[in-house]
Amino acid sequence: MTQPDAGKEVQRLRAELRRHEHLYYVLDRPEITDAEYDALMRRLRELEAAHPELAAPDSPTQRVGGKPREGFVKVKHSSPMLSLDNALNEGELREFDRRVRDLLGGEPFRYVAELKLDGLSMAVRYRDGVLHQAVTRGDGIEGEDVTENARTIRSLPLSIETDERALEVRGEVILGRRAFERLNLDRDREGQPRFANPRNAAAGSIRILEPAITASRRLDYSAYFLLDGGAPLADSHWESLARLAEFGFKVNPERRLCRDIEELIEYCREWARRREDLPYATDGVVAKVDSARQQRQLGWTAKAPRWAIAFKFPAEQQATVVERIEVQVGRTGTLTPVAHLRPVAVGGVTVSRATLHNEDEIERLGVRAGDTVLIERSGDVIPKVVRVEKSGGGQSFQMPDSCPVCGGRIVRQEGEAASRCINTNCPARLKESVLHFSARKVMYIDGLGEALVDQLVDRGLVRSVADVYSLKPEDLIPLERMAKKSAGKLAANIERSRRNGLDRVLSGLGIPFVGERTAQILARTFGSLDKIAAADEETLQTAEEVGPKIARSIWQFFREPHNRELVERLRSAGLRFEQEMVRKEGGPLAGLTFVLTGTLPNLTRDEAQARIEAAGGKVTGSVSKKTDYVVAGSEAGSKLDKARKLGVPVLDEAGLLDRLSGQPRLKA
Ligand code: IVH
Repeated sequence: MTQPDAGKEVQRLRAELRRHEHLYYVLDRPEITDAEYDALMRRLRELEAAHPELAAPDSPTQRVGGKPREGFVKVKHSSPMLSLDNALNEGELREFDRRVRDLLGGEPFRYVAELKLDGLSMAVRYRDGVLHQAVTRGDGIEGEDVTENARTIRSLPLSIETDERALEVRGEVILGRRAFERLNLDRDREGQPRFANPRNAAAGSIRILEPAITASRRLDYSAYFLLDGGAPLADSHWESLARLAEFGFKVNPERRLCRDIEELIEYCREWARRREDLPYATDGVVAKVDSARQQRQLGWTAKAPRWAIAFKFPAEQQATVVERIEVQVGRTGTLTPVAHLRPVAVGGVTVSRATLHNEDEIERLGVRAGDTVLIERSGDVIPKVVRVEKSGGGQSFQMPDSCPVCGGRIVRQEGEAASRCINTNCPARLKESVLHFSARKVMYIDGLGEALVDQLVDRGLVRSVADVYSLKPEDLIPLERMAKKSAGKLAANIERSRRNGLDRVLSGLGIPFVGERTAQILARTFGSLDKIAAADEETLQTAEEVGPKIARSIWQFFREPHNRELVERLRSAGLRFEQEMVRKEGGPLAGLTFVLTGTLPNLTRDEAQARIEAAGGKVTGSVSKKTDYVVAGSEAGSKLDKARKLGVPVLDEAGLLDRLSGQPRLKA
């Protein structure tokens, strides 16, 4: 592609990606599939790699990529980030309203009511429309520069359309409930302590020194304040929220303009009731006087604006009885005591279990089976035991000295809160590991789910993740809910998974901190599992986005004898330990666009895609007039129909292989 063409194409792709990011992450209204988005992103990355002179800091490719840091630099806020005065009940809210009315001398005014999102506040500065710096609240006067991490938040625009030279936005970094739960499940698997609530998780995630880890946490940014550079951009807060949304920020849609205190109280009551329906945590309502002029008139105290107040929802608490305390075993062997409760409704959901985290926590609470305890859910997802209300006179809890699942030895290391089962073959750990290995985003062994894994492990058919590759249809047929046909399918899926790329094998190992993305980077950088296993921490860190924490985790993993044994067994099973990732510019498929659909007889989809890309072609997710070939396998659906309708040539696997080998049969 010539320079001006590439420039235009890069601009077009960036605009399109920005539009889709906004649709997906801000408006929650995606128009294309993840695969199509990935294909656009891949195309942009390729073009930027081929034309380094086109690089731009606000390109959608520039969200992650920042190298790990040593620490955060302190930055002074342009104006103090003060907090708000609180109203703990309706009476205090009415008092606030009376003060505002007095100070405004009876003049009419309105409130903007917004949800108080439970995260941490962050200021984001734009220079000439490009994200320049993101700073945490800190002590309100001075915060920390977390720009590299903030860039990974997909709902935060990297650039905005404005003529203002300098502009600052303030808002809340939050973690949605689903992302929070997912993060805690990952933490369980990695043997890391759980985060108590989304706020702690968000705060912890924005302050991690490795942006790649922050990126994996799926943080969100909700804007609630626009600080203009000079000339005011809006006369009222309501308008400035609309301006923020126009700039492309996520602005909470549940805001409401209230004509008086009654409407404001109605809003507070409504959300105190409905807060559990929201996909993120909120701990109250923020009410702000709408007019900018009236805000100036009301002014500030040393601590907070006189024109705004935070109404805190009462924390939901309920008493119930601890029926028993049981211990769960996670993938890394961590033992977690869980209180099984007499079911009770707290904040709109029925709670029947609450984690007690570890021995220290049980001791701190002094909780025993039979006790009546107070359970709280305050914006938090996991219910927690606040305190013992009444002792039931039961026995005090003892951490078992052998694993409740395998009977293996339990150890608690100096300085660690968690006790662990150290038997690497413990069925509980093994089950979790096999499930991780077979997951869709990992080795994708469709059909190898929880019920089946339970049986395979319980019957001794699987004693190590690698045993999955020794299973034969005859082993599977006698299992519950396994007909001959499904056994055959599963066996075929297992077989197929042997050809997955190195990146999937690598993420299948379950190395803490090595998820999908990091595995891809490692595979691309080192090209071989053996090289990764042999690399020292410094070498590992030469990979993009890999910092000391990830490097140490990888290094340690490959130093454990049982992990090495697993690796050897997977090698014998014939899994891919090598990966060629260098793209050839002038390959036989250069400039051609492919769409894959259906199941090919021999190649997996990843494999077909990798081969097409290695030959210079590109793979997209949907068929259009620009598609050069559709490669169709069995059970191909609507994409094949569309290809026929548009007259796009259709290849089978053999046809694809012909073209990959550079046979001169070009367009059919
Ligand atoms: S307004 C001058 N609006 O609550 C404007 N704050 O104590 C000050 N917060 O530190 C903030 N949601 O972190 C505002 N919709 C919202 C908010 C919000 C959450 C947080 C913010 C602030 C604290 C107030």
